[in-house]
Amino acid sequence: MKVTLDPAMLDEVLAGLGATPRVLPAKLFYDEEGCRLFAAITELPEYYLTRTERALLAAEAGAIVATLPADSSLVEYGASTEDKALVLLDALAAAGRAARCYVPIDIATPALAALTARLAARRPGLAVAPIAADFLAPIALPAAAPRPRVGFFPGSTIGNLEPAAARAFLAQARATLGPASRFLIGVDLRKDPARLLAAYDDAAGVTAAFNRNLLVRLNREAGADFDLAQFAHEARWNAAEGRIEMHLVSRRAQQIRVAGVTLRFSEGDSIHTENCYKHSLEGFVALAGAAGWDARRVWTDADATFALYLLALGRAG
Ligand code: AVI
Repeated sequence: MKVTLDPAMLDEVLAGLGATPRVLPAKLFYDEEGCRLFAAITELPEYYLTRTERALLAAEAGAIVATLPADSSLVEYGASTEDKALVLLDALAAAGRAARCYVPIDIATPALAALTARLAARRPGLAVAPIAADFLAPIALPAAAPRPRVGFFPGSTIGNLEPAAARAFLAQARATLGPASRFLIGVDLRKDPARLLAAYDDAAGVTAAFNRNLLVRLNREAGADFDLAQFAHEARWNAAEGRIEMHLVSRRAQQIRVAGVTLRFSEGDSIHTENCYKHSLEGFVALAGAAGWDARRVWTDADATFALYLLALGRAG
């Protein structure tokens, strides 16, 4: 049995699989295949988030950049592609207030290197200072990214954080970005659960493959022997918590070995793999406020499906 998974991650996996209810850390999703599957999810007809945010950004780019300081640095958290940042960077340049530097932060080093190489070809004059890091950990921005800084966190990735973790992340970003900063955040809003459930359980089965890829990864990297056909993908709407949950549900009683540890599953036992919080318009304002940010503007599409919030430092900041 060969175990190549990072030891700290393996400890987290074993603790989660041994807990009641069973959980797996969502950060495990994003190996190379997971990144490929997530990119495919963003193109699905049911997954409205990416295209709605993209359209909103394009439609409101002029109004958004009018609220941003000139000569700023744009700091993107979880930057897997440059496309959304380019909408802002181009609008800033068109308004005569071009950003001095673009700082994409992402934990996936190869993806970050590819993004940086693409940008060198697409916008040769743009200063880019990539940072390969987990954006939830404290980050020191380089001198190459001068103040004032504009944080950018698109894609509703903030919805994958528990509310307390989201608050802690926002508070930490205040310190990282520093005085006079702004923060533009994309947030998926509460809506008809049927639409949400379809977005997380698409007809083509891409989200199911994304979810099961966790087990593929554990088989490969943690010496596990999951039989993929024996775990069903399930998306559930948890109304009390305001979140979509993703689960992998055991189709029968079975024993699984992971890194030499035996785990017993009964039929119907679930592994809870991800939470995707859906905030109300006011709920997110309160969450940001608790972290010291004032919501100065909010833009939504006509159906209030998705929101872009422009935050500025509150009185405490
Ligand atoms: C990355 N994140 C914003 C996605 C979401 O919608 O919560 C992850 C995802 N999980 C299943 N589908 C997409």
